[in-house]
Amino acid sequence: MIIAVSGKGGTGKTLVSSLLIKSIRGKGRDILAIDADPDSNLPEALGIQVDRTVGDIREELKKDTAQGNLPTDANKWDILDYKIMESIIETPEFDLLVMGRPEGSGCYCAVNNILRKIIETISQNYDYIIIDTEAGLEHLSRRTTQNVDVMLVVTDPSKRGILTAKRIEELSDELDISFKNMYLVLNRVKPQNESVILEKVKEIKLDIAGTIYEDELIENYDMEGEPLINLPEDSQAVESVSQIIEDYLMR
Ligand SMILES: Nc1ncnc2c1ncn2[C@@H]1O[C@H](COP(=O)(O)OP(=O)(O)OP(=O)(O)O)[C@@H](O)[C@H]1O
Ligand SMILES: [Mg+2]
Repeated sequence: MIIAVSGKGGTGKTLVSSLLIKSIRGKGRDILAIDADPDSNLPEALGIQVDRTVGDIREELKKDTAQGNLPTDANKWDILDYKIMESIIETPEFDLLVMGRPEGSGCYCAVNNILRKIIETISQNYDYIIIDTEAGLEHLSRRTTQNVDVMLVVTDPSKRGILTAKRIEELSDELDISFKNMYLVLNRVKPQNESVILEKVKEIKLDIAGTIYEDELIENYDMEGEPLINLPEDSQAVESVSQIIEDYLMR
């Protein structure tokens, strides 16, 4: 099952992605986490240090090609595939791949093309692939998430967060990208304004998979650089994401 987490910047994509991994790990499932945000922050949320991203690998390969360091009969895709497999960080509970970004002003689309190919080729090695996507809509227009099974669209109560969620829903429809399932996740909700938010998101034609409340502990973890995956089991956010898995993402 390929699950992607999308939404406007800062709405809680990385929080939700890391808590999905937290709840699925330890259940005997093979998990691959993919950080597809060029401004990568999933590794910190998972408490993992990353030295080499797919973007770095692509740069290395470009240099090697320019300098004629590759055997002339070498298939570049094979080398890239091999190097990408090699750069997957393995932990006892899940694997992690960080897309990163190419150096300089290079177009990010090359990394996006690689990501689409990775999703196609290595997905069969895992029970769950969880993708923390780039903020906004580009993953749709570039079709990097076209083979995703479940799209979780995260929004906070802000008007712009809700607008981006609505656009994600509409654009996937326009582009004819049909996820098997697509749900909304409400984040940073305060109990006193929950009913107002529920009213506002009615314009988005998506079911709400879960609601995460505003939680000072999450803010503190981020402020201290403490991995979000270490949030306590009894945190409402952890419980809410576990419930989303139980209700919608079990296999
Ligand atoms: N439920 C919550 N309660 C309190 N703070 C939260 C909550 N969810 C997220 N935050 C805070 O909001 C910020 C953004 O969260 P997060 O990094 O998960 O969002 P994101 O969508 O991945 O952002 P980006 O687009 O920058 O990658 C974090 O600093 C986090 O502390
Ligand atoms: Mg993030």
